[in-house]
Amino acid sequence: MSYVLFNTQVVKREQVTIDIEDRGYQFGDGVYEVVRIYGGRSYLMKEHMIRLERSASEISLTLPTHIEELEGKLEELIQLNEVQDGIIYLQISRGVAPRAHGFPPPETRSSLIAYTKDFSRPLQQMKEGGKAILVEDIRWLRCDIKSLNLLGNVLAKQKAQDLQCLEAIQHRNGTITEGSATNVCIINEGIISTHPATNLILDGITKNKVLELCTELKIPFKEEAFSIEQLMKADEVFITSTTNEITPIILIDGKEIGPGIPGPITVKLQQAFEDDINKG
Ligand code: PDD
Repeated sequence: MSYVLFNTQVVKREQVTIDIEDRGYQFGDGVYEVVRIYGGRSYLMKEHMIRLERSASEISLTLPTHIEELEGKLEELIQLNEVQDGIIYLQISRGVAPRAHGFPPPETRSSLIAYTKDFSRPLQQMKEGGKAILVEDIRWLRCDIKSLNLLGNVLAKQKAQDLQCLEAIQHRNGTITEGSATNVCIINEGIISTHPATNLILDGITKNKVLELCTELKIPFKEEAFSIEQLMKADEVFITSTTNEITPIILIDGKEIGPGIPGPITVKLQQAFEDDINKG
């Protein structure tokens, strides 16, 4: 039996129906989060809740519950669904109202839906690394908001998949921003670079954890944008996300990165990340 969180209630999945005039469905007018579950416990939940609150506030969306209460309900969902390794998907839209672009009347309640899904760690991919392609970043200028509107990301990812690649690394006028659903880091002469947390990227929670681990491990890093050329000439490249963790990228547009195998600093960070997961 599978339970979901529907607005403020935990209910059976079969009990939930989505209205055809939900603004999430019609306009992508809402925000979302994906939270990792390891060994039956949520990982970095607080960070995800803080980002959710920020995303909602940036689009003037009122959350249906306080984030502490929401966190409690999500933990309850993990227990009820007996998830070991998985994810929570959570989305909040601006509610149900007759279709019109402008905001609905102020009394309209936002709609929240959250469910869990089994999802194993991508161990083979992390060990062997993956291939990527370069694509132009055609998205809007508020990529810092984790918006339901993901068309640009969807089209980029599909291009990668059509070419049997794991990820599409996006660039704006030759400057790398991020992957279709991941952040991108490069390593050159022992120094990690990643795009600063501006409006052009999602401020990834996994990436921030990696930067925290860099500080602990005394690996120097800079939050500084880099070019396509710097990416292609990097010693190591890796992508980060809640579901991909730290995945090495060993081939981009058919060209090998470094010697074409996961690099030593990436592997060191993967180990530190694994230790952090096990700490709980
Ligand atoms: N994607 N950039 C984009 C555009 C993303 O969609 C994601 C996450 C990230 C990495 O963020 P984090 O480390 O907080 O997961 C960066 C999620 C997992 C998704 O849409 O499924």
